[in-house]
Amino acid sequence: MDKIVIDGGNRLEGSVRINGAKNAALPIMAACLLLHGPSRIKGIPNIVDIQTQSDILRNLGGEVKKAEDGTLEILFRDGENNDKFTAPYELVRKMRASICVLGPLLSKRRRAKVSYPGGCVIGQRPIDLHIKGLTALGAQIETTEGYVNASADRLIGTKISFTGKTVLGTCNVMTAAVLAEGTTTIEYAACEPEVQDLANFLNKAGAKITGIGENKLIIEGVQELHGVDYEIIPDRIEAGTFIIAGAITKGNITLENARAEHLGAVIDKLQEIGVEITASDNTITVKGNDAYHAVDLMTLPYPGMPTDMQAQFMALLSVVEGKSIISEKIFPDRFIHAAELRRMGADIRVDGPSAIIRGTPFLSGTEVMISDLRAGAGLVLAGLVAKGTTQIHRIYHLDRGYERLEERLSRLGAAIKRM
Ligand code: EPZ
Repeated sequence: MDKIVIDGGNRLEGSVRINGAKNAALPIMAACLLLHGPSRIKGIPNIVDIQTQSDILRNLGGEVKKAEDGTLEILFRDGENNDKFTAPYELVRKMRASICVLGPLLSKRRRAKVSYPGGCVIGQRPIDLHIKGLTALGAQIETTEGYVNASADRLIGTKISFTGKTVLGTCNVMTAAVLAEGTTTIEYAACEPEVQDLANFLNKAGAKITGIGENKLIIEGVQELHGVDYEIIPDRIEAGTFIIAGAITKGNITLENARAEHLGAVIDKLQEIGVEITASDNTITVKGNDAYHAVDLMTLPYPGMPTDMQAQFMALLSVVEGKSIISEKIFPDRFIHAAELRRMGADIRVDGPSAIIRGTPFLSGTEVMISDLRAGAGLVLAGLVAKGTTQIHRIYHLDRGYERLEERLSRLGAAIKRM
């Protein structure tokens, strides 16, 4: 199996281009089920999760083609393949985000059978809120033999009030409601940039969604949606990961195609730590230095600190003098990387949903294992600054969400290779 080997200590310099957002691309691809005619989606990253989503759509009768520049053309022919409504276990087990076909299938094909996504190392991944929202629209849903079986003769707009914020739950209800009869209101909707991107995509296709980026989404049902050309937003988590790569190596790097307005909480916290960050147009520049301070941070729904940046911050704070506390409010068990960072010499104590980090002067390279995508990003960042050689195993997790991470870090001056 492949591994990543890093000789730590190099300062990163240069510029890197940020890819389109994985977590925007996945629900947008699923939403193509709703459209009449082909769509061309630009900016899709070349990562394993996109291949898995393409397989799920092909299994549902979709034609998914990739152009040379990476643009995906997706077409579902109207009236064909209505008997295909299953997302099977073999595909869903590879990627929990495949649950986002539930809303589009129910809306367009009136039936959906999606393998029930299990929990994972980042914690429980319930879908009760997805089910609550779709049921309120008129779907009958039951779970049998490990599958969510949903059907609906009609979907009728209604008022849905989520009791907790859910990104993909909001996406599922939105995609089910765009072609429903009447108006749907989602209160306490997730407002992550990826949810906004899905709403903007649907509006370009003819949907009537207002309140985008706010807590209350209003969706007026329409009769039909058409295929569109669309470019997805840059990946804020990939951008955040590169920013911390610049910061942890005390480097000087520039990110192109990065939107600072999506990274408010991340940039504020890094500036509090002492990292110099400037942003203009779609460019972010990071300058590291020797005088960082310990901080406390708490992950929260957007616009708060993203849980998908927690492991990367933990790597950085492991080498920042003083005591930092990370409180994980989204996935309270998402700390498996802490044990691996400890193997590299970090002083981290996990206490329930919090991690207490006492910065050490240096980390030491050793063999570590990735438990999930973002944990992997955290370990790579730690490896960039550790003394000696770090060998990182189970890098298939990284390939799910980062395109050629080691090549791009190597171009910035890191001594990193895949073996
Ligand atoms: C999305 O997952 C992202 N995935 C995750 O990114 C991200 O960590 C997460 O949102 C939080 O920001 C994609 O967009 C593909 P949630 P999602 O439903 O939608 C609870 C990555 O590394 N909840 O917003 O599945 C849940 O337990 C991945 O790229 C319920 O209680 O997350 C959690 O505490 C990992 N009931 C909170 O809500 C539900 O029905 C937020 O989860 C649904 C969720």
